[in-house]
Amino acid sequence: MRTQVGIIGAGPAGLLLALMLERRGIASVIVEVRERAAIEATIRAGILEQSTVDLMVELGVADRLRREGVVHHGTILRFGGRNHRIDFADLTGGRVATLYPQHEVLKDLIAARLAQGGHILFGAKVTEIADLASDEPQLHFTDAAGLAQTLRCDIIVGADGSYGAGRAAIPADRRKDFLRIYPFGWFGILCEAPPSSAELIYARHARGFALISNRTPEVQRMYFQCDPDDRVEHWSEDRIWAELQARLAGEDGFRLKEGRIFQKTIVPMRSFVCEPMQHGRLFLAGDAAHVVPPTGAKGLNLAASDVWHLDRALGAFFAGGDMTALEAYTATALRRVWRAQHFSWWMTSMLHRFEGASEFDERRQLAELEHVTTSRAAATALAETYVGLPYA
Ligand code: DHB
Repeated sequence: MRTQVGIIGAGPAGLLLALMLERRGIASVIVEVRERAAIEATIRAGILEQSTVDLMVELGVADRLRREGVVHHGTILRFGGRNHRIDFADLTGGRVATLYPQHEVLKDLIAARLAQGGHILFGAKVTEIADLASDEPQLHFTDAAGLAQTLRCDIIVGADGSYGAGRAAIPADRRKDFLRIYPFGWFGILCEAPPSSAELIYARHARGFALISNRTPEVQRMYFQCDPDDRVEHWSEDRIWAELQARLAGEDGFRLKEGRIFQKTIVPMRSFVCEPMQHGRLFLAGDAAHVVPPTGAKGLNLAASDVWHLDRALGAFFAGGDMTALEAYTATALRRVWRAQHFSWWMTSMLHRFEGASEFDERRQLAELEHVTTSRAAATALAETYVGLPYA
């Protein structure tokens, strides 16, 4: 089998890239270890930047997003027992965030790709990425039927997440990994309840952070900071609601609307960047190259901006045959990656409780939140990064 671009991973990065390349008439094949149903059922974050929405509109895959996505003109930072609103639209000249869960994005991208007659090989496990220094690198994989296959390519893109074969194919002595592990995780729930707030609430409380998000008028998504080694079985519905209510309580008498909890997960939190994002003819995109803690929901959006840059560089490569634009990909993509790293770390540090934090640290954290919600300049800095920095 031969193609121009061999893409490992049918996540947001791989699928968006395949759709963008198709527009340029560049052929690609996606090799994905999971089955379609598993991908479409995995619950992840839910916030799309303005730039991600614009990209989906441009690619003609935003019909359902336009119908079902919920536009958020602002968000709430809650601390000291009160709400403080950040007005995105006002602060950024009309840019907004859109709530549309990642698995819904994936359903739309997979459907669009298959409708174009594009290849996605589901259930296919990459066993080796070979000859990256040559002009015909290969992906060796075992297909869904268990047969060994080889895909010969001009370029290989590793869009296969943090534990995939892509990054592992860059020798350890040719890359530098930057890692920060946070001493807490997020306990995430889905529940059957009406919304407690029209806009997302990011709450800082002495007991720890909590986030109130939503999914539909009937289903709500909430998270609270927890011990990353805790287990969901230790948390009964009553205990979860008591903890969430305590973290949202305040002088305004705010109460969450409760309902049956039907999903519980604990996610660890880390910041990670791999430099460079290229090795010979292999290019990394999305979580394969970097991970952000979830505060601020930058993960999917960063995958989209990576492949936006990669698509342009691949366009130049296949038009003229020289690697100049592709060789610049790491530097171009990393500028936005590190901005998002800073933002995600900053939102995390500002809103979470750190074990062993002194009273000085707590007062400083509150002063920072006070600053961000009372200074228009500071609020603008948060808003413009939340709705998404421009790509170029
Ligand atoms: C959601 C997740 C986030 O990490 C965030 O910052 C906002 C919303 C969500 O899952 O809805």
